[in-house]
Amino acid sequence: MDKAITLKIFKQKMLADESLPLRKGANNLVFGEGNADTKVMFIGEGPGYWEDMKGRPFVGNAGKFLDQLLHSIKVERKDVFITNIVFYRPPGNRDPLEEEIFAFKKYLDGIIEIINPKVIVTLGRFSMAKFLPGVIISKVHGKHYKINWKGKEIVVVPMYHPAAGLRRLEVKEETMRDFQTLAELLEKTNKVDFEQMQLV
Ligand code: URA
Repeated sequence: MDKAITLKIFKQKMLADESLPLRKGANNLVFGEGNADTKVMFIGEGPGYWEDMKGRPFVGNAGKFLDQLLHSIKVERKDVFITNIVFYRPPGNRDPLEEEIFAFKKYLDGIIEIINPKVIVTLGRFSMAKFLPGVIISKVHGKHYKINWKGKEIVVVPMYHPAAGLRRLEVKEETMRDFQTLAELLEKTNKVDFEQMQLV
């Protein structure tokens, strides 16, 4: 079946799931959006105020910076898929709890399985920890890691959360550089047989 339709049906299932944490205090489910046929997924942390109001990921200040970063490598939002590790807003934008991340896991995994991306860019330490447990973001940001995820090879690129870049100029500059190396990776992904790729 068409991936976009499969995702739509999956979203309906998630909307109907009353067991999900954070649901009661939230205005909207933020399922994620973009191109269901993309090779590249971005996974953030969780909806903030504006995301909760609009039901869309990364539409506040961090989202504006993410848009700039994508623009800097000539990638458009509509060409990738953007989602989060938790899908309802944690109160006051607190960090998501371990049990909340766990409760949403089956849905995030489901989205990844439907889209079947070649590259996953994690934004911030919570989504990074899903694929690269135990690493430290200041040491690994911008690097490319080939991992086996449920029998499939995926390249994971851990990035600082865009909001961290808005707080510290140094992090902002590093993230801008990391996106340039992401652009090189995406170009390779388009050109060569993915399995043969040599990673930096
Ligand atoms: N921060 C996130 O991690 N995700 C969003 O969707 C918005 C801000």
